[in-house]
Amino acid sequence: MAAFTPWPSTWVPADGDRSAQIGGFDTRSLAAEFGTPVFALDLADLRGRMDAWAAAANEHFAPERGLAGADVFYASKAFTCISMIRLVVERGLCADVASGGELAVALAGGMDPARIGVHGNNKSAEEIAAALDAGVGRIVIDSLGELDLISAAAGERGVTAPIFIRVTTGVHAGANEYIATAHEDQKFGLSLTDGSALAAARRAVELPNLELAGLHQHIGSQISDLEGHAVSTRSLLSLRAEIARETGVLVPDVDLGGGYGITYVDEPTLSPDEVCARMAGVVRAACEVLEVAPPRISFEPGRSIVGPAMVTLYSVGAIKRVTIDDGERSYVAIDGSMGDTVLRPMLYGSVYTADVASREISGPTVRSRIVGKHCESGDIMIRDIDLPEGLERGDLLAIPATGAYGRSMASNYNLLARSPVVAVENGEATLWLRRDTVSDFFAVDPAY
Ligand SMILES: Cc1ncc(COP(=O)(O)O)c(C=O)c1O
Repeated sequence: MAAFTPWPSTWVPADGDRSAQIGGFDTRSLAAEFGTPVFALDLADLRGRMDAWAAAANEHFAPERGLAGADVFYASKAFTCISMIRLVVERGLCADVASGGELAVALAGGMDPARIGVHGNNKSAEEIAAALDAGVGRIVIDSLGELDLISAAAGERGVTAPIFIRVTTGVHAGANEYIATAHEDQKFGLSLTDGSALAAARRAVELPNLELAGLHQHIGSQISDLEGHAVSTRSLLSLRAEIARETGVLVPDVDLGGGYGITYVDEPTLSPDEVCARMAGVVRAACEVLEVAPPRISFEPGRSIVGPAMVTLYSVGAIKRVTIDDGERSYVAIDGSMGDTVLRPMLYGSVYTADVASREISGPTVRSRIVGKHCESGDIMIRDIDLPEGLERGDLLAIPATGAYGRSMASNYNLLARSPVVAVENGEATLWLRRDTVSDFFAVDPAY
């Protein structure tokens, strides 16, 4: 059985005095040129993940297999910038956005508006207007009142808004309560069990300037077992058939959401091929039982596309030993954390691994805790890890699988800079996002 690794495909660990490499680029040179912390993006790895999703969706949902095709919407909340969207466009994927800011970046990156899905549990009037003015392909609604707002805004513009209803099917999946989104007691979606989803469908059909174009689910995050997706999808497809009976509209699209897990340390994960093969079987079988034509399917992977493609490089600073109940612990402080990756460990208790990138250090190891440089005792990147005794100030530490919800959740707390993203391939490095500067902080301060 293949071992599950969090390192991207071109990663080569340090060997003797030679530092680790990514995309054919020496990590010491990368740190010298761009500073640390820096997100090193393995472009070949990222492209491969996009292509794997596109190929799997095309193959398993093909009309020859009795299905109606499938689209892959990259969930740009995981990480976005213009270069990222350009790559998404180049590899033939669509994009979903969760705010006006993400929509603006998707459009600036050249994404065809018809291939953009707009999310948000509390879209502002400006965001609804921007989506309609751009002519996006789908607006996913989370509440009944939104239908009236969108209908009115579309009416003012003389357009028809394509509406998807986000449904909470009652299925709860994911590693952690905070990121499980399909159970009832939460802010997303309209309930299937209490009839709100069906009521929304009726209302969408009645209201002018709306087209009921699809149903949507997103049942959680970092999921490594498809049973939850399968159960939820069957419920969603039954609802689709019920809506057709009640309103005469058999919605053409069903969006199965994202949430497919990745390896952060050594956790097993599912490939896009495994996900699509299983879900195609579920959709085909359910539609046969329901005696309805299958819908076009969408997937919304974010983490599983960009997460494993980035490694963050940090410089080691202060190292201190403390005595604890059963021995000693080394506190290894790195030069970042909330400006890059640490929000996930803080919010979700996520676990990462790390390796020394600047050189190979053999010999004994010491129980260590990797901490950031913010004025917060909770600023802990990795709670427990064995690191070499010989680790010194100035060494580079690499943390893999930081591409999703790292840079996109980064903050400027303590007025520390958010880290740059540098794409590397064949020994060439291209800056995708630069590091914040002090001038950026002053730029938003009118008193300056
Ligand atoms: C509606 C929706 N779609 C897709 C995603 C992407 O999830 P992931 O990055 O886990 O694949 C999210 C993330 O929370 C989401 O809320």
